[in-house]
Amino acid sequence: MVLSSKAIFLGFAIVTTTFFNGCLAAGLNVGIHKHESLDTWFLVTERSSYVISAAANGYLVNMHWGRRLTHLDDLNATVVEPPIWSQIIPVTEAREELPVFGGLRYREAVLKAELPDGVRELNLQFAGNANISSDHGGTRLDLDLRDANRTELLVTLHYEIDVENDIIRRSYTVRNGLDGRVNLSKAFSAAWHLPYALGWDEHRELVTLAGEWAQEAMVETTRLAPGVKHTVESTRGLSDHVSQPYFALAQVPNAVNPSTEVYFGALAWTGSWEITVHTDTKGYVRVAGGIHHQDFGWTLEPGESFTTPVFAAGFTDEGLPGARLRMPRHARKIQKRNLLTQKDDDVYHPVLYNSWEAVAFDLTFEKQMELADKAAPLGVELFVVDDGWFGGRSSDTAGLGDWFTNKTKFPGGMKPLADHVHDLGMKFGLWFEMEMVNPDSDLYREHPDWVFYYEGVPRYLSRTQLVLNFGLKEVRDYMYEQAAAHIEEAGIDYIKWDFNRPMQGVTMHDYDRNPKEAWVLAVEGYYEIIARLKERFPHLWFESCSSGGGRMDLGAIERTDQIWTSDNTRPDARLFIQYGASLWVPPRSMYGWVTDSSSDANIEVPLSFRFHTSFMGGLGIGSNINEFSEEQLTEATHWIALYKKMRHVIQNGNLDWLVPPTRVGELVAATQSTYKQEEAVILAFRLNSPYPASGELSPIRARYLDENATYRVTIWQEDPENPVDEYEMSGALLMYRGLELPGLNEGMFKSAVVWLQQA
Ligand code: GLA
Repeated sequence: MVLSSKAIFLGFAIVTTTFFNGCLAAGLNVGIHKHESLDTWFLVTERSSYVISAAANGYLVNMHWGRRLTHLDDLNATVVEPPIWSQIIPVTEAREELPVFGGLRYREAVLKAELPDGVRELNLQFAGNANISSDHGGTRLDLDLRDANRTELLVTLHYEIDVENDIIRRSYTVRNGLDGRVNLSKAFSAAWHLPYALGWDEHRELVTLAGEWAQEAMVETTRLAPGVKHTVESTRGLSDHVSQPYFALAQVPNAVNPSTEVYFGALAWTGSWEITVHTDTKGYVRVAGGIHHQDFGWTLEPGESFTTPVFAAGFTDEGLPGARLRMPRHARKIQKRNLLTQKDDDVYHPVLYNSWEAVAFDLTFEKQMELADKAAPLGVELFVVDDGWFGGRSSDTAGLGDWFTNKTKFPGGMKPLADHVHDLGMKFGLWFEMEMVNPDSDLYREHPDWVFYYEGVPRYLSRTQLVLNFGLKEVRDYMYEQAAAHIEEAGIDYIKWDFNRPMQGVTMHDYDRNPKEAWVLAVEGYYEIIARLKERFPHLWFESCSSGGGRMDLGAIERTDQIWTSDNTRPDARLFIQYGASLWVPPRSMYGWVTDSSSDANIEVPLSFRFHTSFMGGLGIGSNINEFSEEQLTEATHWIALYKKMRHVIQNGNLDWLVPPTRVGELVAATQSTYKQEEAVILAFRLNSPYPASGELSPIRARYLDENATYRVTIWQEDPENPVDEYEMSGALLMYRGLELPGLNEGMFKSAVVWLQQA
């Protein structure tokens, strides 16, 4: 069926007219509802609505995404039709739920496929089937689309709502019911359509997370401009440091229109990814994203299907703090649903010790025993042995791939150390990097064809290693068996799973399908091995690490317990990194280590300051505690004890930034973790200021408290045993006048922990 542009106009006109004037029987309570007579669905969360409608011509369009609608009249005020006066063909203007490559569509396509007859254009229309279910404790909607000309090509759009967090999870499945092969060359997960900005002359800012190794998650803002497409991406085969698969779009408030509307989202994909944000001259913004299309390919044999990763996005009218509240809570909710280890809020993330920063590859049984003996009395709950315990691994140039405990370093294997750690009352963790191999390893000598490579192209090394082809079942199975054997033999409770270089030579050999599938197979291999290990050892914890934060994405966090945000543990750097990461990482999963990492200003950073920056989420210690003085050991013990007293607030509460870290001039920052309004922990930092007049930390105004309640305020600075102040104050005073922390203005690298407890 070929539609004229007029028919398309009519289609919209018919549906919108009926939509506005017809009765709306569907309730607008939270949940998913279908209109009683129209093919219109309302996805209603606590504070947002998302409305989808099948136009008379079969195209599936978004009618609204934003503030929650409660009455039919609301729709009149909110929905904007595709502008029919435009010279541009309207279907390209339409807010289609799944804009494909094909027809008169000229913006970012979400799906591109080559059909068996050589046609590379799709023409998807609503097929009449919709299914609302309440699996997974959330509410789900599936909508079927079929190609109008080749009806056996079926695309099912999946929606799931997170009611409390105002988030919608989207993905879709393409099913090939045709006689021949269908080749997908682009399969993003979703397109999101934002309403126009609130006023004619108003702007939106795109918030993204840029970075590189040791400088992850830097918050960047870019003003959207008409006719401009902004892209954030990774083409490296992993979600990567250069950018994280996250976006937020905030209306820029001004005195006339103090809007606080923010749209935000994250991709659940640990491979190459792409998110594009296009703005037209009228201010209409389309966000599209998913698996990176560069070199992507997937072949569907007759009867096969392909499901995209999830792209989760939400709306809030509470500004960026509202977005920061919702995405971490959403990620935590999915962790709780997926992982036995995360089910219970009362099972806290352990205080860990890891000697990587202190001794790097210098691991031996005796030295690790000595560190374990030192760590346990400090209050450490998990002792992790990092890189260097296996094969011929004494530097990063050899041994990777040979997962046999090095008998020179650990003559009795790993079990004696694990037993000792357990006897000391700690859990035992071990580092793995199973998707990689050093050419100088027995594994590579035996299986040079297990890596990604092209015949006749150099196998480019990075960190002296190559990437194993986890698309190959034998590689995945081999590594799974290796890991499982260690876990069983030594009684391992926790795995730090690393990935220390980008991919190259990504293809499949002797493969009768599309070799480009390798990019996706590699990520699926990573997901599969973690899932298999978690299934066999349901109490096993996982840390997702990739040279620091190279695998910081929703896909990784939904499958693992925590992430290592950065190899940079300098506390001042950490403030910026945690500021960015906390936009979407649940606080308990965002680890910070107290280390000896020095400042280039050659300034002694007090131990207290190092602890306080690490108090924002999960707490780790990475210092060389063998070198600690008695005073330092005592101080560390008391900070750890204090952290444990407050960690129900930190790990189960919401993390917000009262003062975002500033980059120029003075460096100050403050966070607040809030737990059910009853308790909060404020962490405040002042590093330095060149300006005597303005360099003082002003009173810090708390948020989210009960203004009528009285709070006990306890403040610690450098001494964990003796608070510098203790008093009572009303929630109103704490929020509207603020908290004075004069001690922070008395020198450099000053910090404070403030515990607010309802009296
Ligand atoms: C990566 C990790 C570090 C450490 C090293 C070991 O860089 O980010 O924490 O585990 O690998 O080689």
